[in-house]
Amino acid sequence: MRALDVFAGELPSFEPHTAPSDPEPLFVDWLFEAVDVGVREPHAMTLSTVDPEGNPDARVLILKNVDADGWQFAVHAASPKGRDLAAHGRAALTFYWPQLARQVRVRGPVTAEPAERSAADFLARSPEARAEALLGFQSRPLTDLAARDAATAASLERVEREPGLVTPEWTLYSLRAEQVEFWQGDQQRNHTRLQYARQGKVWAKQLLWP
Ligand SMILES: Cc1cc2nc3c(=O)[nH]c(=O)nc-3n(C[C@H](O)[C@H](O)[C@H](O)COP(=O)(O)O)c2cc1C
Repeated sequence: MRALDVFAGELPSFEPHTAPSDPEPLFVDWLFEAVDVGVREPHAMTLSTVDPEGNPDARVLILKNVDADGWQFAVHAASPKGRDLAAHGRAALTFYWPQLARQVRVRGPVTAEPAERSAADFLARSPEARAEALLGFQSRPLTDLAARDAATAASLERVEREPGLVTPEWTLYSLRAEQVEFWQGDQQRNHTRLQYARQGKVWAKQLLWP
C-alpha cells in the first residue's frame, strides 16, 4: 500500500477566505468542477447511518438534489438503511472526488418528505430501477442469480403494464445539514479544511487543522 501514490498530479487550490457564507453554493461549485474533470458518478456519496443498537453502517448512494430543504436522497423503507433512518433520524454524507483530491462531509438530522414527493422521485427513476425497487427485496439473501433475473424481468413487465405504479415504501429523505466540511487535499500534506456549522439562521465558518 505504501508504494501507491496519494494526491499525485496537479490539484486545484482552495482559498477559504473567498468561500460563500453558506455551504450549499460552494458544494454545487465543487460538484460542477468534479463533473468538468470527468469524475465518475460525481453525485455518488457515502451515506452513514446508525442502527437501533448504535452500530454504524455505510454505503454509497446517489444524491438527488440540494436545495433550501436540504440534501435529498431516496431509500426503500424496508432496506437496512431505510430501517436505520426510521429508527435513528440522523445521518452523515461523504463525497470524494479523487481527481480533485476533494472531500465534503455533511451531517445532520433527516426527515422523510411527504408521500407525493417520494412518489414523484420514484416515477422519475428508470423503468429498471423502479422494477427493482418494487420487489422490495434489497439486501435480503439471494439463492441464485437466475432468481434475481426472473424476478426483475417479471417486475419490469409489470412496470411496463402499469407505468404509474409507485411503492409506498419508497422514501425521499432530506438531510438538514448542521455541519458541512470542505477538504482540499495537497501533495505536501498542507490540506485545507473549512467547516461550516449552523448557528440558528446563519453559518459560522472555521478552519481546521489538517
Ligand atoms: C455508485 C453507486 C451508486 C448507488 N446508488 C444507489 C442508490 O441510489 N440507491 C440504492 O438503494 N442503492 C444504491 N447503491 C447500492 C448501495 O450502496 C447499497 O448496496 C444498497 O443500497 C443496499 O444498502 P443497505 O443494505 O445498507 O440498505 C449504489 C452503489 C454504488 C456503488
